[in-house]
Amino acid sequence: MRTTTAPVIRLKNYTPPAYTITHVDMDVSLAAEDTVVTTTMKVVRQAGTPTSAPLVLDGDELSLDGLWINGDKADDANYSTTPVELKIHRLPETAAFDVTIRTRLAPVKNTKLMGLYQSSGVFCTQCEAEGFRRITYFLDRPDVLAVYKVRLEADKATCPILLANGNPGEAGELPDGRHFAVWHDPHPKPSYLFAMVGGDLDVLSDTFTTASGRHVDLNIYVETGKAAQAAYAMDALKRSMVWDELEYGCEYDLEVFNIVAVSDFNMGAMENKGLNVFNDKYVLADADLATDADFANIEAIIAHEYFHNWTGNRITCRDWFQLCLKEGLTVYRDQEFSADQRSRAVQRIQQVRWLKSGQFPEDAGPLAHPVRPSAYKEINNFYTATVYQKGAELVRMIATLIGPEAYRAGTDLYFERHDGEAAVVEDFLKCFEDAAGVDLSQFARWYEQAGTPNVDVEEEWDAGSCKYTLVLRQHTPPTPGQQSKKLVPIPVRFGLMGSDGSDIEPRTRSSAVKDDVIVLTRRETKVTFTGLKTKPTPSLLRGFSAPVKLNFAETQASRLFRAEHDSDLFNRWEALDGYGLSLLSDDATGGSSFTEKDREAFVLALCKTALDDSIEPQFRANALSLPNEMAVARNIGKNVDPAIVQQSRSALLKSIGRQLGKRGLDLMTKLDTDPNADDLAASGERALKYSLLPFLLVSGVEGAHNLAQSQFVQAKTMTDRMGALSAIVHFSGDEVMSEQCLEAFYDRYEDNDLVLNTWFTLQAMVPNAAGLERFERLLDHPKFSLNNPNRARSLLGPFAANNPTAFYANGAKGATLFAQQIMTLDDKNPQIAARLLTVISSYRVFKAPISDAVTEALRTIRAKEPLSIDVQEIVDSLLS
Ligand code: ARG
Ligand code: ZN
Repeated sequence: MRTTTAPVIRLKNYTPPAYTITHVDMDVSLAAEDTVVTTTMKVVRQAGTPTSAPLVLDGDELSLDGLWINGDKADDANYSTTPVELKIHRLPETAAFDVTIRTRLAPVKNTKLMGLYQSSGVFCTQCEAEGFRRITYFLDRPDVLAVYKVRLEADKATCPILLANGNPGEAGELPDGRHFAVWHDPHPKPSYLFAMVGGDLDVLSDTFTTASGRHVDLNIYVETGKAAQAAYAMDALKRSMVWDELEYGCEYDLEVFNIVAVSDFNMGAMENKGLNVFNDKYVLADADLATDADFANIEAIIAHEYFHNWTGNRITCRDWFQLCLKEGLTVYRDQEFSADQRSRAVQRIQQVRWLKSGQFPEDAGPLAHPVRPSAYKEINNFYTATVYQKGAELVRMIATLIGPEAYRAGTDLYFERHDGEAAVVEDFLKCFEDAAGVDLSQFARWYEQAGTPNVDVEEEWDAGSCKYTLVLRQHTPPTPGQQSKKLVPIPVRFGLMGSDGSDIEPRTRSSAVKDDVIVLTRRETKVTFTGLKTKPTPSLLRGFSAPVKLNFAETQASRLFRAEHDSDLFNRWEALDGYGLSLLSDDATGGSSFTEKDREAFVLALCKTALDDSIEPQFRANALSLPNEMAVARNIGKNVDPAIVQQSRSALLKSIGRQLGKRGLDLMTKLDTDPNADDLAASGERALKYSLLPFLLVSGVEGAHNLAQSQFVQAKTMTDRMGALSAIVHFSGDEVMSEQCLEAFYDRYEDNDLVLNTWFTLQAMVPNAAGLERFERLLDHPKFSLNNPNRARSLLGPFAANNPTAFYANGAKGATLFAQQIMTLDDKNPQIAARLLTVISSYRVFKAPISDAVTEALRTIRAKEPLSIDVQEIVDSLLS
């Protein structure tokens, strides 16, 4: 279809389907070039639909091979097709009838990786959001729920494993070396949750018994020879199953739970009923191949997809505008799971880091959209940080506002009331209103309104009457298409700290305060506290209780006081991070808000935290990771010169390194590395160790250089190897050693695609003109390819998103190179092309000549013919 005519789909135009489909019976004969799919669906005319109304089924790049109505071959005059639909005109007058459709597919040619495709020879599917229509004509919308039976057949030698949703049924041999397997899923589901897999795979198996005694077989299928690498994923799965029973009362509901890991996958993973399909990056791991961060991601994503079984599958979405209904809630659930399994404070720090670096820029830029968007051209463009991460923050705020018991009562009610349904956000909110007896109508605005609210805070201390007052004002800046904003309820968790750093029990009569939360519902909220002896230090937005930008003209001394004493660990981190961000921004803009003393005080405080053995190592590692160049650039907001940001940041790194000095080096050598990658204490120590190393290297601490090298050579885990390698390449300044180590790493992992991706990513972050040159060379590397999404992302993503000094070097030549890659990718896999393009959405913060070069590159992309709707929609927003 011509891209310029892509229609806008609007929430307000939602209408229920005229027909529904209650049963689907599929027969699939798998072959790379010619797969035959025969689907019989029981179609039911909905009340109010006249018998004359045609049945309009969705299709995408399909070839129709046969059509039968109630078993009779359809007359040519009875139907018509366009590239996007099959319209059947004269239908039986009975309320229900059968439609049988035969389509032929060539999975080996499917480079979009939507629908049925092959990944390293394995047949697999991805149907969310609109991939099922690439397998057969269908009512491919989430409010059409059917019971599926699937019979798969394939060549037994190349496809010994045949899987689909639900429980296994009959299986057996067929002539000519073929075999078959039948799967039956008793739970009605929308087509986006359909999945099938055929291939030669190894399996790691286990079992689980649910709280009510149901026996479940667990299987993780992976590339042959790699079953042992699924052990951590299996462990994470079993822990997720226990957690969901305990925390939400949700039990698994089939005889088997299957996971298949494939190497070509557009996203992280997919929650298909009983048959999750994963990007193998989020399954395969062992200490030699995966970093501690990889392990944590595997745990989170395994949990996320498993939790979808109730939040997404048992209760699904009415339409794609409601995506946050399943994604925001499920992210919140996986975040809480990880918080329970690991350090809650550290998890919260990492979630907020991600929110601020991924979602806040979205809300502040041309791609801003509400958590529940009201319009889209291509739904795949809306699997965003706003829908996922901000969506999770909204659920978190509900839990904060009504408390844990009412929250649990609300989710219980949600499962009870809407099980088996396709719901909307309003249904979800109503459950909490009914369970907690609250009114969430103002809260609902959070779902409609884009942009990050600002909360400006002022304090007043009246020494005479010992009254302390906080004045909090909210305002949300305009976003594209939403000029004026309404007020939203903002829960601000807080504490007042006394001069010894401990929390004071504040006394107030304000109705805005409930326990330790101030709820801002108006433009201005004034809260007065009494009974204080001295002026307290406020600690606001503890645990990041709302996704807002807090503006409080706090003194640097008070920030450091909080960094040392705040009883809320998250806010201790935030105090340091906020200090670092302001300091770096001030430096890079030649500002004068920070004196030399302020700077020294910060360096001292940071080093003190880093060296304080009474604090958990992973927290100290997070404190040491200073805001990156893009965070500083966005904070400055306009006319940014990337080189100057970089200079300020390296200068600060050096000061910190010099201050750490030998003590930092001693600490590094003391932090022992347990080769057990899933030992949490050891992983915390490793995190601290490799967060120290860059400082020691840039400031030339004696012995650091040798230590880095020996850490690399003697590495016992991938975390050690990568930690050392990345510090060497980015901070040692020793090109010879860097090249040697990169080569050694390459030689060792040349044949491991997942590990090799990290080798590309590391080099994509080499700064300045040298980094640009390296990027250009790597584009031509024999192992670089746009065909594998992980590989494409590994090089293009970090280079364009987080390496401004290289991207903008030589008149922003990086932007031109990047645009060329996006255009090539657009012909293969538009979804990945569009997704990668979004990473440059903050380009306008950079100074004119270089940001203009990006505009030019975007215009070149816009002029490409044909251009996918996916890329067109993003490029138009970026240019607007
Ligand atoms: N539902 C999946 C998850 O978050 C994401 C799948 C998105 N796929 C897509 N092609 N848009 O778990
Ligand atoms: Zn999800």
